[in-house]
Amino acid sequence: MTLSGQRVLLVIGGGIAAYKSLDLIRRLRERGARVRCILTAGAQQFVTPLAAASLSGEHAHTDLFDRDDEADIGHIRLARDADVVIVAPATANLMAKMAGGHADDLASTVLLATTLPILLAPAMNPRMWLHPATQRNLAVLMADGVRFVGPNEGPMAEAETGPGRLAEPLEIVAALEQMLVPSGPLVGRHVLVTSGPTHEPIDPVRYIANRSSGKQGHAIARAAAEAGARVTLVSGPVTLPDPPGIRTIHVETAAEMLAAVEAALPADLAIFAAAVADWRVADATDRKIKKEPGRLPSLALAENPDILATIAHRVSDRPGVVVGFAAETNDVVVHARQKLERKGCDLIVANDVSTATGVMGGDDNTVHLVSATGVETWPKLRKEDVARRLVAELAQRLP
Ligand code: CTP
Repeated sequence: MTLSGQRVLLVIGGGIAAYKSLDLIRRLRERGARVRCILTAGAQQFVTPLAAASLSGEHAHTDLFDRDDEADIGHIRLARDADVVIVAPATANLMAKMAGGHADDLASTVLLATTLPILLAPAMNPRMWLHPATQRNLAVLMADGVRFVGPNEGPMAEAETGPGRLAEPLEIVAALEQMLVPSGPLVGRHVLVTSGPTHEPIDPVRYIANRSSGKQGHAIARAAAEAGARVTLVSGPVTLPDPPGIRTIHVETAAEMLAAVEAALPADLAIFAAAVADWRVADATDRKIKKEPGRLPSLALAENPDILATIAHRVSDRPGVVVGFAAETNDVVVHARQKLERKGCDLIVANDVSTATGVMGGDDNTVHLVSATGVETWPKLRKEDVARRLVAELAQRLP
């Protein structure tokens, strides 16, 4: 009963392979999962809602504007009341709609409204799969955190052969188990990550901020989750989506970030990748500051709490390994060594954020790992690769 108690929302797309999704329902239930189905209009050309309902033991949903459905559960609750979403078969059209954010029927609306982890099992004609448009949509969906199983290669309808066959139901079940039953060096560990900038209000419409995009911190949170950890991400204001499957707490100011971090303890590993504002406006007002001719307002600043130093110096609940980042524009390693000492952390990941490097907001990063035992410099890597390598390295350092 590997999937015992897991609630699966199965979206069945329109394609001849839809008949296999009936077998998938059976396999999922054999392993203890609860399955609720949505059938697209296309799917209903191949399998009936009655068949899906009989096999799943639950009402099968088909219509966005079904009065009974909306009164009973509603599309937003459908998108929420599950642990995972499987789309099988995922047609080229469904993939395009998901990649484009369309919501013109129940299936696509639920897929747009859900924040649950999604597993897609594509099935289509090989030419459609290999078409640049589908491959583009695949890349978009992967970047959005959607997971894929298949398609497989083999003989297809219309006597064609190539990639496009729906993965076998047991392969889909195995991919799901891998997604839901975590594995990796951080299984059983809680990892806390801060990411993004903080905004320090001046008045209700103005604030002090910095150029951090949150890309590196969010990538670290994703890499830790991939390594099996339970992850809490405390994020300042960013334009990035919440990483799927990761508890994300949104904050605005440094004070809120510290409170959220303290509330999330205990943690085995804490990685402070946020670019926290060092100062806040001491006398931020609730009323918008008005322009007055000839008068230039001046801002009095107050020091913000140092979140990294506060957590690293805790007596109780200090995470086993505490990692800070250092954003520097010159003498990167010298400054990082001083920061390591001052902040009381175990490791500093130092990067050069001079404008010429394009690190702030960019996709690449060159980092130096500075610890009591020395300095290790990594080559220029994509931020995702820095994240994975860092997580692998830190997993080894955990007590
Ligand atoms: N940091 C923090 N809380 C703050 C300031 C910084 O937790 N109030 C953390 C950052 O998340 C980062 C590390 O401290 O992990 C280094 O931040 P940085 O701004 O580079 O260093 P500062 O201590 O602010 O020093 P300076 O601005 O003088 O370089």
